[in-house]
Amino acid sequence: MKKVAVVTGSAKGLGRAIARALVDWGFTPVIHYRSSEKEAAEVLKQVQKKTPDAIAISADLRNEKEVGRMFDKIYKKFKKVDLLVNNVGNFVYRDFSETTNSQFVDLLESNIYSTLFCSRALLPSMRREKSGHIINIGVVGADHLNLLEKSAPYFFSKNGVWLLTKMMANEEAKYGIHVNMISPASLETDIFKKSDFPMGRSAKYQDVIRVLEFLISDKAYYINGANIEVAGGFIPRIK
Ligand SMILES: NC(=O)c1ccc[n+]([C@@H]2O[C@H](COP(=O)([O-])OP(=O)(O)OC[C@H]3O[C@@H](n4cnc5c(N)ncnc54)[C@H](OP(=O)(O)O)[C@@H]3O)[C@@H](O)[C@H]2O)c1
Repeated sequence: MKKVAVVTGSAKGLGRAIARALVDWGFTPVIHYRSSEKEAAEVLKQVQKKTPDAIAISADLRNEKEVGRMFDKIYKKFKKVDLLVNNVGNFVYRDFSETTNSQFVDLLESNIYSTLFCSRALLPSMRREKSGHIINIGVVGADHLNLLEKSAPYFFSKNGVWLLTKMMANEEAKYGIHVNMISPASLETDIFKKSDFPMGRSAKYQDVIRVLEFLISDKAYYINGANIEVAGGFIPRIK
């Protein structure tokens, strides 16, 4: 039986690239989206060429009940989930004084709550299986107190994801569950100059995907509760 992977926010961006790669490694992906129905349907059509059992499901991951309903549907279709990639997490680039309460709350909820709710929903099943991988997507600098201009709430929320990663790894290791974080710098963007990056370019989705492939492999068996930066030497700092 094929392994099953849930990738949150996989209608677009990094999540979509991860879902496509997982198919090549023999996983059946669950394509999750919130509002990008058309894009999710396109991704589903593509991945179903190799994995006809793949499904797409919509849920607002800030809402624990919706997350619960999403995993109910997943477990109706599949016996177990082998991999969860907590990829959803919004970003706001705005002066702290101008950041609205709803933006602040959305940053915390889309990054921290989504990770917490999705992980909690599948941990009982992973515990029963005595195996499973959870990969949380952070950001460069998320594992220490950090500030980039106009991004304090974002870094604050990714700090939270890092703490969750460590805590979950510590609590779940005895059940054979691995929880790690991958923290990219700016991904596939041309809004910065080449000279803004120590290695002359932004991170590619493929750079992240290669690390993910390693972390879920047997070679990374003893890596649990780790954060791997995929940042090409970039250090976030206030200009
Ligand atoms: N892009 C970068 O340069 C960069 C750099 C470092 C780290 N990261 C991290 O990498 C991850 C992916 O980044 P990305 O830029 O590829 O993502 P993105 O395109 O900004 O977002 C991915 C998806 O998240 C979904 N989403 C947002 N809020 C949601 C909610 N409340 N419930 C359910 N889904 C929700 C959206 O789905 P719908 O469209 O279906 O609504 C969106 O398509 C994020 O965790 C981000 O913080 C990104």
